[in-house]
Order: sequence, then C-alpha cells, then structure tokens
Amino acid sequence: MARVQYTLLDDARPLPSSPLSLLTGLSCDKADGRWLLNDRTAISIRAARPDDTAMLQILVRGLSLKSRHLRFFHAIRELLPDLLAQFTRADPTQEMSLLALIQQDGQQMPVAMAQYVSAPYPERCDFAVVVADMWQRHGIGIRPLRNLICIASAAGLEMIEGDVLDENEPIRQLMKDMGFTLAPHPDGPYLMKAFKPLAPPAWKCYAWAALLSRGRVGGKSFSDHCVN
Ligand SMILES: CC(C)(COP(=O)(O)OP(=O)(O)OC[C@H]1O[C@@H](n2cnc3c(N)ncnc32)[C@H](O)[C@@H]1OP(=O)(O)O)[C@@H](O)C(=O)NCCC(=O)NCCS
Repeated sequence: MARVQYTLLDDARPLPSSPLSLLTGLSCDKADGRWLLNDRTAISIRAARPDDTAMLQILVRGLSLKSRHLRFFHAIRELLPDLLAQFTRADPTQEMSLLALIQQDGQQMPVAMAQYVSAPYPERCDFAVVVADMWQRHGIGIRPLRNLICIASAAGLEMIEGDVLDENEPIRQLMKDMGFTLAPHPDGPYLMKAFKPLAPPAWKCYAWAALLSRGRVGGKSFSDHCVN
C-alpha cells in the first residue's frame, strides 16, 4: 500500500455527505465522524457491529509483533471468538468498540480500533486503542479515543482507565496530551495506570449521535448528555 501524505483538518469538519448533517439540532464542531487526508482520502469512525468481525481480524492480523504486544500485552495472532463478540456488541453501559476506516480502491479498510469495557458500571471502564502500523503517527489514534470518551461520559461512566506498558512512550505521551493522569501500577513497575475522571461532555460526538439515531442506546435516558 502506498504511503499517503496528508494533513488532518484541525476542526475535523464532517463532510456534507456525513449522516451527521442529517441530524437536526446538533452542533458538532468537535465531532469526529469523518475527516480528510490531503489526497481527499476520507477516514470515518463508527461503532463496530456484529458484521465487522472480518474487519477486526484484518486489522489485528496486520499489526506488527510490537503493536500487538503493546496493545494486548502479548503477541496474539488474531482475536479469539470471545473478544470478537465483545468488540462487536456496542452497549455503551457495558462495552463499546469503535473502528476507524479508510476508503481504499473502493473498499473500506480498518486502520484503527479503540474499545472500553465497563467494570463495574458506572464507576469505571478500561480502554485500549491500536492504530495499524503504517498509519501510526498521523493523528488518527486520538480520534477514536476522543469519541470513546464522549460515549463513556454520555453513558454515565465516571472514570476511564487504561493499563499501559511503561516502555510505551507513544501512548504515555498521548495520555498526557489528552489530560489523563499516569500513576504507578499495583502490578509492578513495567505497567502504568492511566486514568481520567469523566463528566457529561458539552458536545455530541459522531459515534454517539449515530448510535442514538439508530436507537442502539436503550434502557436509560442519555439524551440530556452531549448536546450543546
Ligand atoms: C499509541 C497509538 C495508539 C497512538 O496512535 P497514533 O495514531 O500513532 O497517534 P497520533 O498520531 O494520534 O498522535 C497523537 C499524540 O500521541 C503521541 N505520540 C504518538 N506517537 C508517538 C511516538 N511514536 N512517540 C512519541 N509520542 C507519540 C504524541 O503526543 C502525539 O501528538 P503529536 O503528534 O502532536 O506529537 C499507536 O502508536 C499504536 O497503535 N501503538 C500500538 C498499540 C498501543 O500501544 N496501544 C496502546 C495500548 S492501550
């Protein structure tokens, strides 16, 4: 795959064709639904669905050993069925996975995924993120994470946490950029605990809006959250 030179739009304006523009009463100046590379390649973010299992496997199988180790703490070859099921359930009070996709040769290709699992709801959730190796360091990883934080906040979760390897300078830097606190981990010096208290966000992210519009958020009323 040829490397693409690109810049991201600072304000991540949704494209006119984005479903976001079809939702009324929504001010989404910080929404991340779709944004453009400078060659006009679009990246989009959405919740992973049950029919995304092949897409998730393509992403994981394509990761370098190092990225698999940093994301899963051991070099798994592919996602086992229980993780695949978990990553495609999309229940914001329990577990949420987001996929970042690019359009390439008429096909959607996964370039990143981020997920959280709530344990227990609503006190906290654990997150993780990975970007395909050739797409790292291009401002992609922060987007699914920001959307994930919006969804977790809107779902009423009070804290988002992640275990990160001490050697993992990129995620440690990203955590600091995103206002996470890094603290020693009880399991040993090779791990750090990253955490950030959550509050209902003042804006509605694309992925959350899409879930609401598809009626995927049942049971509880979250509609007061995330709306400007
Ligand atoms: C960590 C990871 C998700 C970052 O995603 P990314 O798309 O490459 O990161 P971004 O381009 O969005 O960078 C955002 C910020 O992260 C930090 N960062 C990213 N890569 C970095 C690197 N190689 N060195 C230092 N800081 C880095 C920087 O602060 C960067 O901001 P800047 O570009 O303004 O300097 C990606 O490197 C990855 O998938 N790594 C393997 C899996 C992993 O470590 N997952 C975390 C376990 S939870």
